[in-house]
Amino acid sequence: MPIVFDQAQQRFHLFNQRISYVMRVYEKQYLLHEYFGSRINDFTASQPFPQVARSSFSPNPADLNETGFSLNTALQEYPGVDTGDYRDTAFAITYPDGTSATALKYQGYEIKAGKSQLSGLPATYVTTEQQATSLVIHLTDQIRQVQVDLKYTIFEDLPVITRSVEFKNLGTQTITLDKALSMTLDFPENRYQALTLPGEWASERQMQYTSLQRGCFSFDSKRGASSVEYHPFLGLLPKTTTENHGEAYGVHFIYSGNFRASAEVDAFEQTRVMMGINPYNFRWQLAAQATFQTPEVVLAHADDGLNDLSNSFHQLYREHLVPAQFKDQERPVLVNNWETTAFNFDEPKLLELADQAKKIGVELFVLDDGWFGQRDDDHSSLGDWQTDVRKLPNGIAHLAKEIHQRGLQFGLWFEPEMISPRSRLFEQHPDWYLHVADYPASLGRNQYVLDFSRAEIREAIFAQLTKILDEVPIDFIKWDMNRNISEVGSIALPPEQQGEVSHRYILGLYDLVAKLTNRYPKILFENCSGGAGRFDAGMSYYMPQSWTSDDTDAVERMKIQYGTSLMFSPIMMDAQISDVPNQQVGRLTPFKTRLDVAQSANFGVMLDLQEQTPENIQLLTERIAWYKEHRQLLQFGRFYRLLSPFKGDYAAWEFVAPSQDEAVLFFFQILNHASKPMKSVKIVGLKPEQLYQVGDQQLTGDYLAKFGLYLNMALESDFLSKVVEIKAVK
Ligand code: DGJ
Repeated sequence: MPIVFDQAQQRFHLFNQRISYVMRVYEKQYLLHEYFGSRINDFTASQPFPQVARSSFSPNPADLNETGFSLNTALQEYPGVDTGDYRDTAFAITYPDGTSATALKYQGYEIKAGKSQLSGLPATYVTTEQQATSLVIHLTDQIRQVQVDLKYTIFEDLPVITRSVEFKNLGTQTITLDKALSMTLDFPENRYQALTLPGEWASERQMQYTSLQRGCFSFDSKRGASSVEYHPFLGLLPKTTTENHGEAYGVHFIYSGNFRASAEVDAFEQTRVMMGINPYNFRWQLAAQATFQTPEVVLAHADDGLNDLSNSFHQLYREHLVPAQFKDQERPVLVNNWETTAFNFDEPKLLELADQAKKIGVELFVLDDGWFGQRDDDHSSLGDWQTDVRKLPNGIAHLAKEIHQRGLQFGLWFEPEMISPRSRLFEQHPDWYLHVADYPASLGRNQYVLDFSRAEIREAIFAQLTKILDEVPIDFIKWDMNRNISEVGSIALPPEQQGEVSHRYILGLYDLVAKLTNRYPKILFENCSGGAGRFDAGMSYYMPQSWTSDDTDAVERMKIQYGTSLMFSPIMMDAQISDVPNQQVGRLTPFKTRLDVAQSANFGVMLDLQEQTPENIQLLTERIAWYKEHRQLLQFGRFYRLLSPFKGDYAAWEFVAPSQDEAVLFFFQILNHASKPMKSVKIVGLKPEQLYQVGDQQLTGDYLAKFGLYLNMALESDFLSKVVEIKAVK
């Protein structure tokens, strides 16, 4: 049983082969955190946490006054409010009397096999009860009549704990939830630096390390989406940790809206880590007997560096987050028309592209923006999901049929959450967008955001989409979202509930995508938001892959894909080879390097196929065939980052088959230098004693891991790459 409660010591121990998570009930009241990290076999013989007499100005709970116990120095599991702990709070409630003091006391627990789903929210899941064990700890403030259930799950074979919190108003009057984070994790010391992934449009997930000092380090999104600016991931690791060595923690939020992540180092260098819905623009009316469920957060721990941490996230998301039917399903090589035609296409042009794509081995044709309403640019038609017969006089169903007849699958772009002021939908429903009544509303990419907190609006969009999806044979949907919310208000809600709109919007979005993905389980949904503006674990629950960035430049993509791979496996990241000069940065890179970067993830093509040289078409055809041959390895193999493009002029990564008999290594040189030093790439994850064929040499796994390969000398210019196949000698 991987969760035990030691009655004598009042201690919970959640454990599997790799991790331990330990909490204790102190003086039958307070739930204290004791440990999260590598497995400790037996925690019963442990030292008491030295927490007394460290807090001259910190109050003591009245009944524990003589003991010197202070909540301000205790390591807590989910701290209360305004009761003597002056660090950041996990939640905040305003009661009918206008005050907020709340002390949560332990009431009891339940342990059960398996894992329950969270109603209306994405979350990790199990397919058999043996895969996980779950614990709910009940805390209450009897005076305030509020119950807080802390929910934990430990997976059988992963160094991962998931957590979430459910609030219940046990009283008879409505209370206001001003803040409801999903977790707190208190560490006794300040041992770690923070690893975060800030970015911008076309520059997503840049790896950033920050030393933690006294005070609060925090980052968040207030955009109504998880955002490219700050991804809801927080890594914690000692300075000495590398990709393959050392300890690391990862905290990742399964949510797509506003979030806040923080790490506060207190006066005693204790460190409190938190993650949850951003309290900004959040105020929830909790009626008598009502409950509020927070989204789920994943806590992972690794002993063997960041690759070890990433592999846990990759495995967790593949087996327990993305829709089960896509878990083992190979993804097709696609072609997308966006960078080739933008809005300017007609049926013959598209069919020509489809014909060329078919010839080179592409399997899926994706028609991007501009096929509906009267959309010749980004100023109109969002909300009018009917074919633009000026461009496609035979209709979208006919186009889909033509594409299928060519032996290709057919995919279509939608941006269902939006409404253009120039659209029929807006003429009919000029108040369906999120806005504040009688207050000017900002436009973003010339569009407004539909008020998805309202069921009737979601239903109207659902009806439009199902009409197409029922009539047209569609295999793939690219679900885009190209602006953030502002002037957040819903005209359907009373003033006291306006603080619920941001979260209700996300719940509405989840409701709609759940209905669509359940109704069309075979359609492969790709999540997109101007690139990765909402590439998060929440959307991944419904849509197993995401467009990684609008930046398709090979050099920029190295960093973007490297950073994204911290949590998301390459199969979850769509990467497409595009033309040069690159549309985002104007850079010229060799065709092969662009191919190698794109084939390092879920591969597709965004080239004007008519404009390619015969040599490039030849290479592309061969490499698509090669990608298909190696698809199992590239889409489902274990991924290791080897050289970081954030640290110099090289990047390298590797895919290893589960059998460890086969691997593919990608090596990139960004800028070349005269008289350059040699750079070795150590190839990990192979069997030490096994002999491998590497080019014309035979080398052992042990040698490859410790001595490595020197690959940079042969590359004599900027932006060059090398792919090395490694196969066990039988
Ligand atoms: C933003 C996406 O990231 C692009 O790939 C493309 O689909 C455009 N939107 C279309 O408007």
